[in-house]
Amino acid sequence: MIKVIISGFSGSMGQKAVKMVNDANDMQLVAGFNPIVKDLDPESYGLDKNVKIFNELTKIDVDADIWIDFSIPTAVFDNTKFAIEHGIRPVIGTSGMSEEQTAELKKLADAKHLGGIIASNFGLSAVLMMKFAQVAAKYFAESEIVEKHHEDKIDAPSGTALNTARLIYEARGHDQAQHSSQDPMNTRGGDYHGTKIHALRLPGFVADEEVIFGGVGETLTISQSTTDRQSFMTGVKLAIHEVMKQDQLVIGLEQII
Ligand SMILES: NC(=O)c1ccc[n+]([C@@H]2O[C@H](COP(=O)([O-])OP(=O)(O)OC[C@H]3O[C@@H](n4cnc5c(N)ncnc54)[C@H](O)[C@@H]3O)[C@@H](O)[C@H]2O)c1
Repeated sequence: MIKVIISGFSGSMGQKAVKMVNDANDMQLVAGFNPIVKDLDPESYGLDKNVKIFNELTKIDVDADIWIDFSIPTAVFDNTKFAIEHGIRPVIGTSGMSEEQTAELKKLADAKHLGGIIASNFGLSAVLMMKFAQVAAKYFAESEIVEKHHEDKIDAPSGTALNTARLIYEARGHDQAQHSSQDPMNTRGGDYHGTKIHALRLPGFVADEEVIFGGVGETLTISQSTTDRQSFMTGVKLAIHEVMKQDQLVIGLEQII
């Protein structure tokens, strides 16, 4: 049995992770963590009475293999560091960490030969989109990204959009050319080594992304759409099984599929 702690267990994604773990025949939910909750009775959350609920990081004392994190951008670094320091393999979905923070966590986990994953997107369609974008980037010198998320998403751009821009930049090996030097209203979006990122926040969306490549007399659009957040759990489950075999922290689901 793979023993799992879910950080942010009472949130929207946390609840989906709880369902995924409870439905899996080789996983066991041993604890839920959220510093915001006051009630530590697992049955109040519809959980088995043997599941322990914690609202203080330092009080977590259960034996666990996996730390799933769907919490908040300001907490995920400390949560992940705690998991690594306690030998619990991190499976991190929370967005908002900087490249420096991710690199520091990788160094920590790798030094302990601890498997783990930080993935800005556990959706298979998004990960495949990133792979296809990386291939297209070798043939098209210019591209822009449009990402569309629900109105409650705190951070922008999305981790997936930033990761896509990073992969495009790595494939090209140089910054993209800039256009429209006159833009007093800042309508050209964010910028990652010249790749523009446009973030929409509107009700009705879950998580969508388009990467549009422009060439001489042609364009190529790679587009993915998430219609139900349960889809992310396919990737989380796959990642859990994979990190149990790994001895290092991988960044991005695309590294293991
Ligand atoms: N990687 C992916 O595939 C993927 C998919 C969807 C969402 N996300 C990300 O997951 C995160 C959570 O999204 P959500 O929609 O479930 O948000 P949510 O607001 O519904 O849930 C977050 C939960 O974390 C709790 N929390 C607050 N502080 C915490 C802390 N210090 N430690 C642990 N928990 C804490 C909150 O009380 C809340 O219950 C966001 O960063 C979101 O962008 C990632």
